[in-house]
Amino acid sequence: LEVLSVASEIFPLIKTGGLADVTGALPLALAREGVHVTTLVPGYPAVMAALEPSEPVHRFASLMGGPARLLRGRAGALDLLVIDAPHLYDRPGNPYLQAPGVEWVDNGPRFAALAKVAADLGLGLLADYRPGVIQAHDWHAGLTPAYLHYARRKDRRLKAPPVVLSIHNLAFQGIFPAQLLDTLGLPPEALAIDGVEYWGDIGFLKAGIQFADQVTTVSPSYAAEIIGDDGGMGLGGLLKSRAKRLIGILNGIDDEVWNPETDPAISARYTAATIEQRAINKLALQARFGLRPDPEAPLFGIASRLTDQKGVDLLLGALPVLFAEGAQLIVCGQGEPRYEAAFAEAAERYPGAMGRFLGYREDLAHLLQAGADAILAPSRFEPCGLTQLCAMRYGAVPVVSRTGGLSDTIIDANTAGIARSAATGVQFAPPTQDMLEDAIRRTCALYRDPASWRRVQLNAMASDSSWRVSAAEYAALFRRLSSRSATRPA
Ligand code: ADP
Ligand code: GLC
Repeated sequence: LEVLSVASEIFPLIKTGGLADVTGALPLALAREGVHVTTLVPGYPAVMAALEPSEPVHRFASLMGGPARLLRGRAGALDLLVIDAPHLYDRPGNPYLQAPGVEWVDNGPRFAALAKVAADLGLGLLADYRPGVIQAHDWHAGLTPAYLHYARRKDRRLKAPPVVLSIHNLAFQGIFPAQLLDTLGLPPEALAIDGVEYWGDIGFLKAGIQFADQVTTVSPSYAAEIIGDDGGMGLGGLLKSRAKRLIGILNGIDDEVWNPETDPAISARYTAATIEQRAINKLALQARFGLRPDPEAPLFGIASRLTDQKGVDLLLGALPVLFAEGAQLIVCGQGEPRYEAAFAEAAERYPGAMGRFLGYREDLAHLLQAGADAILAPSRFEPCGLTQLCAMRYGAVPVVSRTGGLSDTIIDANTAGIARSAATGVQFAPPTQDMLEDAIRRTCALYRDPASWRRVQLNAMASDSSWRVSAAEYAALFRRLSSRSATRPA
């Protein structure tokens, strides 16, 4: 089976968050299930630079206001189709922002182009490439099934593959002014409640949910939350109406990229059998961030976007409790300027106990996982979350709020969890400062009970966070959809 994955980010080429990890790892995991994935991505400078010898397979005289080429090539193990459209994508830095907090004004056409090319590929743009299923990720690719829908309405003979819309985060919806309708190449009738219209604007994610043959999201709990009473973020009604076609499939992590036994970014490599080697990584972290080189102080770490979603304001409030416990903290993050400033200021206030790196550094995230005793994820909502999965694999104890994928992946170190040797982390709910403080105290108490702590670390390291199980679920879903569409009337 051939699947076209449509995504704005793909690790290791371009990444702002977990979306890239998923779109980068899933093709490799699906290959083991007999599913071949080609990924359609925008030709950002980083993507163009990573592309190994490639050939143009199509030329567009005009794609959203300028000429473009479609290139076919590889980057490492990834098969790619790249939209080389300099007027849309030849811009350095963050793919969505022209400056911190300021989106590119033409993000509507930029990402409509991605969906439009995906739809064209589905309709047979290339003579030698015909995907059996299209998987469109997040709002960036959300218009894909809408373009297919309106194309087939115009010409009933057109055949199109089924589209799976995968929601990684309902908070980002891609909403643009209705006046763009024509520019985006959508017909006037599309501006309707059963079309792409969303409260008077055009909603890319809304359109995706509306027209996809199947909607997935990245954990079963998040799938339930977004059709619940307050998790829908304005799309709850539509999601509810599509509930029969919505499932949650848990993310995994690439266990070769995230492997403490071989990780080149860490000071000392280890396995569960040599877990005491983590102490070397902890010392390395303490040295790098100017912390007291104290092997006994519980060292907390967080590698995260610094936004409301991630509950970093709760953490800022809980800092006095954390340091009163004799613990240390390292923050590796980037995001809202007010949070960056607050963490920078806190690091000045707690010298020797707190360190921070305000920016994006893949190698530091690895070292943090390998050396911190505990990894924090106090999220207000979390579709899946990957850092808690990496933490488990690295024997760092995840301290997480009980929401979305965090509730599906972590077993709390409560009395039963410890007694049955099942616990893999510390969970708290609801996501408030009080409960986070309580979780920090519980974590420190657990840390001071070395036998129980080691048990939790080893339970975590023994749990399977790879893509194996979930890739098989995606493969089964894709096969089901493709065989159903083969038998459905045109
Ligand atoms: P989200 O996609 O919501 O940001 P996830 O937990 O799914 O959250 O994925 C975040 C990914 O980005 C993880 O791979 C994490 O290690 C990485 N990450 C987040 N912030 C940073 C940072 N400042 N430096 C390096 N890696 C980071
Ligand atoms: C989103 C979510 C995160 C998820 C990631 C990958 O960015 O915020 O929870 O793990 O996508 O699916």
